[in-house]
Amino acid sequence: MKQRGEKIACLTAYDASFGALIDAAGIDVILVGDSLGMVIQGHTTTLPVKIDDMIYHTRCVTKTCKRALVIADLPFMTYATPELAAQNAAALIQNGGAKLVKLEGAKIEIVQFLVSQGIAVCGHLGLLPQFIHQLGGYKVQGKAAESAAQLLADALAIQNAGASMLILECVPAELAQQITEQLTIPVIGIGAGGACDGQVLVVYDMLGIGTGKRPRFSKNFLVDTNSIESALKNYYLAVKQNAFPTPEHSF
Ligand code: KIV
Repeated sequence: MKQRGEKIACLTAYDASFGALIDAAGIDVILVGDSLGMVIQGHTTTLPVKIDDMIYHTRCVTKTCKRALVIADLPFMTYATPELAAQNAAALIQNGGAKLVKLEGAKIEIVQFLVSQGIAVCGHLGLLPQFIHQLGGYKVQGKAAESAAQLLADALAIQNAGASMLILECVPAELAQQITEQLTIPVIGIGAGGACDGQVLVVYDMLGIGTGKRPRFSKNFLVDTNSIESALKNYYLAVKQNAFPTPEHSF
């Protein structure tokens, strides 16, 4: 899809009903994100999420999802060593039914090891919710020249380590465009502007049913329509037509 310039539409899902609806709406990629710690479990961060939570929710989604590519997050501290990462990634694939596993940060050695074992990996750079206490808040990353250069170098290193895809969260649109152009693997943005190869949102945010404040980069697709199905379809079309995100949803 990247090669032929078709935008990739991605949403999170955590259960069988949303898995089926999102799949039926034509969304290309479903991410079972550890954001479930906040939107499902009610925590203030993703840090309390356990691998068993991820396996359970991934299995719920893959039971009904027939077509979309399902990625599952490796939660906090479940990929601290290559062996631990491989064991937990295998559980998400074998017991959850995930096709790819996603991990946060430039964990090059871990990505290389997982790929060498036949596991398809999605990287995640920019705002890293599992590093929230080091980052000191949910802020845009890569604004300074030095951190922007580091992000680009990390993205290339993740690709060279064998990752199949990269998620970029909350980075300036110009930097995201530069990274997207330099990488051959698909770059999916969230708060990273419209030049990425695709977009992802937390499904509860884009339906306006989140408990907290809607992030600036998200958009409520339910307000202009009367069903969840058409909100999902409108999101799908907006991504495909590059009508979302606009500068209003970017940094
Ligand atoms: O956990 C999640 O839902 C994510 C997305 C916000 C990219 O990682």
